[in-house]
Amino acid sequence: MTSYENGSVTRELAGRRALVTGGTRGIGAAVVRRLLDAGAQVLTTARSATGTAPQGAAFVQADVSTRAGAEALASAAGEVLGGVVDIVVHNAGGARPHEGVLAIADEDWQDALDLNFLASVRLDSLLVPGMRERRSGSIVHVSSAAVLTPVGPFLHYTAAKAALENYSRGLAQELAPSGIRVNTVTPGRVATPGGEATREQWARLNAAPGQVNADDTPPLGRDGRPDDIAQAVSFLVSDRASWLTGTSLVVDGGEFSRG
Ligand SMILES: NC(=O)c1ccc[n+]([C@@H]2O[C@H](COP(=O)([O-])OP(=O)(O)OC[C@H]3O[C@@H](n4cnc5c(N)ncnc54)[C@H](OP(=O)(O)O)[C@@H]3O)[C@@H](O)[C@H]2O)c1
Repeated sequence: MTSYENGSVTRELAGRRALVTGGTRGIGAAVVRRLLDAGAQVLTTARSATGTAPQGAAFVQADVSTRAGAEALASAAGEVLGGVVDIVVHNAGGARPHEGVLAIADEDWQDALDLNFLASVRLDSLLVPGMRERRSGSIVHVSSAAVLTPVGPFLHYTAAKAALENYSRGLAQELAPSGIRVNTVTPGRVATPGGEATREQWARLNAAPGQVNADDTPPLGRDGRPDDIAQAVSFLVSDRASWLTGTSLVVDGGEFSRG
């Protein structure tokens, strides 16, 4: 019988080993907590030193936006998770807004692509071979609902996330015959340290008319909470979603569907 506790399906991920990038605050920390509650063994990472990962999770310091960081993380997964990774949640991401597209320098484009797109490509390339051998696995890429209404100050970020969604769908097709599911979760505005800092920077830039208003409240009457996104992620990585792959789940309080 399925039983629920704090909104989690109790211990449904017992025995699974999970890697979550960016799990020391915001959405990533909520995902780590959900997966731990569901019984998974969890390894997470951030650039800052240890001490802030949710209790019960293993932590390794790494910058996933670099090839070396991805390799260090995969190697830590080998040591801490015994070389078996059943679940990967690519959560680390974000970007600073600029005055407009012409103010985005080459290195800002490259940084946005490295963190929001290539980090997933590199880490997947290191972890998918093991999943293929075991003929099972579940991968979730965290995108952004901002891809649905791209605007100049964020084009480096939204273009990278759009590439991530496209990549995620294609990867799902390629890996489906190996029993590996790949999906995207696409959050709207969520109250997190990173999200709030970005919106404050954007407000200071005084967004031009026609751009998404940084102060708009989603139709459901509040901003998202990190756990709203973690619920979607924990569903997608579970066996309850065993017939879901190549999909993008938008979790945004109705914000981007109102047009
Ligand atoms: N919050 C929103 O409104 C919102 C909306 C749509 C999509 N999203 C997406 O949701 C994800 C999480 O966002 P958030 O708002 O929770 O972010 P956040 O509050 O800034 O937290 C980001 C987490 O990722 C880690 N991180 C950042 N860069 C990293 C790197 N290069 N290598 C390893 N770890 C890194 C951070 O730790 P360190 O700084 O110590 O590295 C932290 O643990 C991102 O992909 C973001 O694009 C957020």
